[in-house]
Amino acid sequence: MPVTIIVGAQWGDEGKGKIVDMLSDEIDIVARYQGGANAGHTVCIGEKEYVLHLIPSGIFHKQTTCVIGNGVVIDPVALMDEIAMIKSFGIKIEGRLFISHNAHLIMPYHKLLDNIREQGTTKIGTTGRGIGPSYIDKYMRTGIRVVDLLDRKVLAEKLKQNIEEKNQLLSKVYGSAEIDLEKIIQEYQEFDKKIDPFVTDTAAYLNNALKKKKKILAEGAQGALLDVDHGTYPFVTSSNPTSGGACTGLGIPPTSVKKVIGIAKAYSTRVGNGPYPSELHDSTGEQLRKLGHEYGATTGRPRRCGWLDMVALKYSIMVNGINEIALTKLDVLDTFDEIKICTAYKVNGKILKNFPTDVQTLEHVEPVYQTYKGWKENISDRKKFKQLPKQTAKYIETIEKLSGTKISIVSVGARRDQTIVR
Ligand code: GDP
Ligand code: IMO
Ligand code: MG
Repeated sequence: MPVTIIVGAQWGDEGKGKIVDMLSDEIDIVARYQGGANAGHTVCIGEKEYVLHLIPSGIFHKQTTCVIGNGVVIDPVALMDEIAMIKSFGIKIEGRLFISHNAHLIMPYHKLLDNIREQGTTKIGTTGRGIGPSYIDKYMRTGIRVVDLLDRKVLAEKLKQNIEEKNQLLSKVYGSAEIDLEKIIQEYQEFDKKIDPFVTDTAAYLNNALKKKKKILAEGAQGALLDVDHGTYPFVTSSNPTSGGACTGLGIPPTSVKKVIGIAKAYSTRVGNGPYPSELHDSTGEQLRKLGHEYGATTGRPRRCGWLDMVALKYSIMVNGINEIALTKLDVLDTFDEIKICTAYKVNGKILKNFPTDVQTLEHVEPVYQTYKGWKENISDRKKFKQLPKQTAKYIETIEKLSGTKISIVSVGARRDQTIVR
C-alpha cells in the first residue's frame, strides 16, 4: 500500500522538512495532516533556505502535488503569504496545491486568545499562532471551515456568532478590548476568490490517488511528545502529530499505510515549556544550540538542547509504530569529545525504563546516561555509510540496538545531498 507517514519522533524540529523534501523526489503527493502555521519546516536547496509553515515540503519537486488536509488548521492570511512567497521563487502552485474544504480556519481572535491565555498561570510557551483556540472551536462545533470562506453570507453569519461570543469572553473574563466584527467580515470575505482555486474534497482526492497506486507521503508537523493525547500534557500542541493523526487528518484508511518513518535528531531539542529530562543547562547545551543553529524556524526562540533521550524515543516508536528512523543532524556532534545517550530515568532511587507521560513524574526524573567516545571528524561531506568514522557508525548502531529500530536514513547536513540512505 502506498502511504508512508513521516512523524517527528521527539519534540518537533527534527528535520522533517529536509527529509520530506529529499524523499519527495519519488513521491506523487505530500500531505500535511495536522497542526498549522505553528510548524516551521526548513528545506535547503543549494545555498538557499526556505521555511514552510503550511505548504507541504514536497512543493519544490515539480512532479509532486501537495495537500493540506482536513486535520490542519489554516490561517488564511499566513497561507496566502506563503503561496505568494512560493510563487516569487518561480514555482508553479496552481494545480499543485489542494486544500481541504473541511479544514478549520484560524481567525485573528484565535491568535488574540492564544496570546492572552499565555499570560495566565499555566504558560505552555505556544507559538502564538492561534492553534489551541482554533481546535477548541472545532471540537466545540462552532468553528469556521475553509468551505465557509466560499460563501460570503454564510461566512458573515458564522463570524457574527463567533465574534459575539468571543467578545463576551474578551471583555468579561479577560478585561480586554473587543473585536471589530465588521472589519473582520470585510477582510475575510475577500478570501473567497483567492482560496477557491485550491479548495477541494482532499479525502476523495487522496482515496482516488490510492486507487491509482500513487505514492503518498503524509507529513507530520510537531512531534510525538507534543501530541495532545500521547505527549507531555498539558505542555503539548492541540493536535495529534502521531501517526494515527494522519488517517483522521487526511481521511485515508489505516489499511493504506505501508510505513512510518520517525525523524529523530541525533541529540534532542525542545521549544516552549514542559518537562525535558535530558536537557543540558550547561556549556554543552549551549554548544549544541550554537553548532546546530537551534533557534525556532517559526518564532526564532532559542531551542532548549540536550542529549538523545532513548526512553522518550522508544516510547515514540511505540505510539507511532515507527518502522524506520531517519537520524538527523549527526554532523552537529562532530566536535564533541564525548556523546551521551539517556538510557533510563531515576526517580526516588528507582530506575524507570518506560516513559511516564504524567508531568508530575517526568518533572522529577533524573536521566541515566551511557557515554560514548566522539569521532572528532567532519562527516558533513560523507555520502555512504561505510565512509563514516568507526565511532560514528558505532553511535548509529548503538541507537539501532537500543531502540530496536533500523536507521534507514542518516542526515549529515541541511542540504539534500548531505544524506546517507542505507
Ligand atoms: P522540522 O520542523 O522538523 O522540519 O525542522 P526545522 O526545519 O524546524 O529544524 C531543523 C533545522 O536543522 C533546519 O534549520 C534544517 O535546515 C537543519 N537540518 C536538517 N537536517 C540537518 C542535518 O542533518 N544537519 C544539520 N547541520 N542541519 C540540519
Ligand atoms: P515543527 O513542525 C517545535 C510547541 C510550542 C509549544 C507547544 C504548543 O516545526 O516541528 P502551539 O503553538 O502549537 O499551541 O504550541 O508546541 N511547538 C513546536 N515545537 N516544533 C514545532 O513544529 C512546534 N509547533 C508547536 O513551542 O511548546
Ligand atoms: Mg520546525
